Amino acid sequence: MAKDRKVALVTGGRRGIGFGIAKALAAQGCDIAINGISPEGGAGIAELKALGGDAFYVQGDVADPADHARMVEAVRERFGRLNVLINNAGIGPRSRDDILTATPENYDHVMQTNLRGPYFLTQRVANFMVEQKKADPAFEGVVVFITSISSTVVSVNRGEYCISKAGLSMAAQLYAVRLAEFGIPVHEVRPGIIATDLTAGVKAKYDKLFAEGLALLPRWGTPEDVGRAVAALVRGDLAYSTGQVIMVDGGMQIQTL
Ligand SMILES: NC(=O)c1ccc[n+]([C@@H]2O[C@H](COP(=O)([O-])OP(=O)(O)OC[C@H]3O[C@@H](n4cnc5c(N)ncnc54)[C@H](OP(=O)(O)O)[C@@H]3O)[C@@H](O)[C@H]2O)c1
Repeated sequence: MAKDRKVALVTGGRRGIGFGIAKALAAQGCDIAINGISPEGGAGIAELKALGGDAFYVQGDVADPADHARMVEAVRERFGRLNVLINNAGIGPRSRDDILTATPENYDHVMQTNLRGPYFLTQRVANFMVEQKKADPAFEGVVVFITSISSTVVSVNRGEYCISKAGLSMAAQLYAVRLAEFGIPVHEVRPGIIATDLTAGVKAKYDKLFAEGLALLPRWGTPEDVGRAVAALVRGDLAYSTGQVIMVDGGMQIQTL
């Protein structure tokens, strides 16, 4: 494969927002490693390859640092390099419990998957990127964190999710600062309400809220909406930005009177 093709690792890239991102990156000439927790990559691999590049599945639990080593090694073996890390994999709580009754077990599960996992996966990938940059000054790396409007919007029935995303927003800034000297930008993409399996259970609720004006743009977001935003960042279209938040929320966060 051509060395000028960027190699991207998209966590949670098997479906939903992650797959939307993987398709957008494949369409603009990236080779892709999609990660998920399921044993098999599924039909998405063929769909990505049909876009012109190489794609493969690397199974691994982002919550488990032992899996990180295996995931990054698999990418290194397949492509010899890694330019793009998309920290997308994330979960909601097993049950939506009021913070007055929520359990430490649910809290730990969400925090390990949504915050601790990507924080340490990024550490591992960042070290690999720095190694590549030192070996080849022309190396281009970029890291993107997919957070959520829940980084700042309070939902008292899923406090652990909100805290995990708020923490992830800080992780994006931390890595933006640390990796700046190596010319590796780090961006945060903050989606609003996006139609995926994660939100399928609350479809009727949000259909109604969108109809009542929840967002300035009166529709659900799609994985493709998020994919296009991430693709622009990976292309380097925002070349003089790092550590910034890109809202992909249909204008949901503008306060009006
Ligand atoms: N949907 C929304 O409205 C929305 C809004 C804001 C932010 N987000 C964030 O966007 C990200 C993607 O959400 P989504 O709606 O696309 O979710 P989704 O449809 O539920 O897909 C989640 C993906 O993450 C993978 N995954 C889950 N746990 C994992 C683990 N421990 N290790 C590795 N992979 C794991 C899943 O793997 P398998 O396919 O193998 O199960 C799946 O591919 C999440 O971080 C979410 O918090 C979503």
